[in-house]
Amino acid sequence: MSTSKDVLRKEIERRRTFAIISHPDAGKTTLTEKLLLYGGAIHMAGSVKARKAARHAISDWMEIEKQRGISVTSSVMQFEYKNYCINILDTPGHQDFSEDTYRTLVAADSAVMLIDGAKGVEAQTIKLFQVCKMRGIPIFTFVNKMDRASKDPFALMQEIEDVLGIRSYPMNWPIGTDGDFKGVYDRNLRQIVLFTSDNTHGQAIVNSTKGSVDDPIFKDLLGEPYYSKLVEDIELLDIAGDSFDLNKVLKGELTPMFFGSAMTNFGVELFLEEFLKLSPPPHEYIFGDKIIEPLNDDFTGFIFRIQANMNPNHRDRLAFMRVCSGIFKRGMQVIHSKTEKPVRLAQPQQFMAQEREIIETAYPGDIVGLFDPGIFSIGDTLSTSGNLTFTGIPSFPAEHFARVAAKDTMKRKQFLKGITQLAEEGAIQVFKQPDIGVEEFIIGAVGVLQFEVLEYRLKNEYSVDIKLTHLNHHHARWITEINGKPEDLNITSTTLIVKDRRDNYVLLFENDWSIQWALDKNKGLSLRNIS
Ligand code: G4P
Repeated sequence: MSTSKDVLRKEIERRRTFAIISHPDAGKTTLTEKLLLYGGAIHMAGSVKARKAARHAISDWMEIEKQRGISVTSSVMQFEYKNYCINILDTPGHQDFSEDTYRTLVAADSAVMLIDGAKGVEAQTIKLFQVCKMRGIPIFTFVNKMDRASKDPFALMQEIEDVLGIRSYPMNWPIGTDGDFKGVYDRNLRQIVLFTSDNTHGQAIVNSTKGSVDDPIFKDLLGEPYYSKLVEDIELLDIAGDSFDLNKVLKGELTPMFFGSAMTNFGVELFLEEFLKLSPPPHEYIFGDKIIEPLNDDFTGFIFRIQANMNPNHRDRLAFMRVCSGIFKRGMQVIHSKTEKPVRLAQPQQFMAQEREIIETAYPGDIVGLFDPGIFSIGDTLSTSGNLTFTGIPSFPAEHFARVAAKDTMKRKQFLKGITQLAEEGAIQVFKQPDIGVEEFIIGAVGVLQFEVLEYRLKNEYSVDIKLTHLNHHHARWITEINGKPEDLNITSTTLIVKDRRDNYVLLFENDWSIQWALDKNKGLSLRNIS
């Protein structure tokens, strides 16, 4: 008879929780959809994309819509493939730096870096890569759009090394480039896989012919120039390339590289199979001074994302929790770290391919959506043992500031509610000038796009039009030590004294020079750039 420990061990081993990181338009939506197609979670490709397209039609503000994720159900998607249980985390993709994306990466055990073969390593990919690198999680590279003209594969390897500073190991190699993508060579099996295009843009699983590279039939099938080029390339890779080292992969020092086309499905299944074999199951997390292993009997999870009003018809607010250890059961009572009070998790939701549904059980690696009556914040720990605080959510100092107020003073109440909500979601940071009432706030954001999001969401979700005045301030510093009162500080005339949501004093500076001024002129003052 299997014990609950055996069940837990088995469920952990078969789980893979990862995020796809890429620059907009590299094909993340398409690849996600094809993974679902191969997992049998959808039967005909086109549905995720159709939703995305429909949304574009109703909103001309694509960036903002993208910022909120593809849709409710695809913020997290769970599906099965063979014996694996896969959780894909959607990282909101837009050009701007977004804290939300970084928090999402904290909940992933590995990342798939998707690159457009013609464009190579692009700006957003670089930023996201750096966060993954900082966390030391394994990164797998999928070079997409190989059905079109693309950069030379060797040049792409070099680019990854030069721009990202990571060595790559091609697991397979493309055959036929520049719009004539025929298949890939599987280096591990020394096998050629040729795909048969069905001209449907990969709505269904693609057929392939496989065989040893030494089988003379492939010389005929591929034709002379392609075959010789492949043999040459393989030789060069074997002699000059890195050797495969799983340890380095797991430490994020070597990225296994795959070539394919999410649109035509060429190479998608090969990628999925290898990825599942090589990527790690759920890993341990550090809570303060404690290391929590997934196999711990006690349930532990943390909240990494809060999203309100995802469905404007139901003003709901969901907190996304990553399960770190133990077995999660619907209705279980846990201790909420912030309040140290027990909470019952009554209506946990999971996101299966296209629907949300109430779940009974979840295991480490899973993401559970909890209805949030307004008690949860990002970084909160929920556990059966209590006494644990998650410290792994990165916080980024705001670099852009603006003054905001409701245009119509009669809407002050909604304005306050909206601002508070968005601050709790972690979308913006809110500051108050002590001498100004609740009709005006100073908000801080890591990227300027957040201001547009704020404006858009306050209007759409709270019916409030706002006045927004950008400030020249770029640095927030929390006062950690001070002699006397903040109001008596000797600071430059442009420096602002404000309070954060927890009533801590913060100084907003325009430049480094004024920070230095404050430090030089005020003995005993010490400042910190995060709260
Ligand atoms: P994103 O989520 O990363 O932003 O990218 P998305 O999947 O939406 O793909 C962006 C565009 O690239 C889409 O074209 C998509 O069809 C195309 N694409 C994705 N994968 C491949 C591929 O492997 N090969 C080729 N040739 N194209 C690919 P679109 O014109 O914007 O949309 P659609 O009209 O095709 O739907």
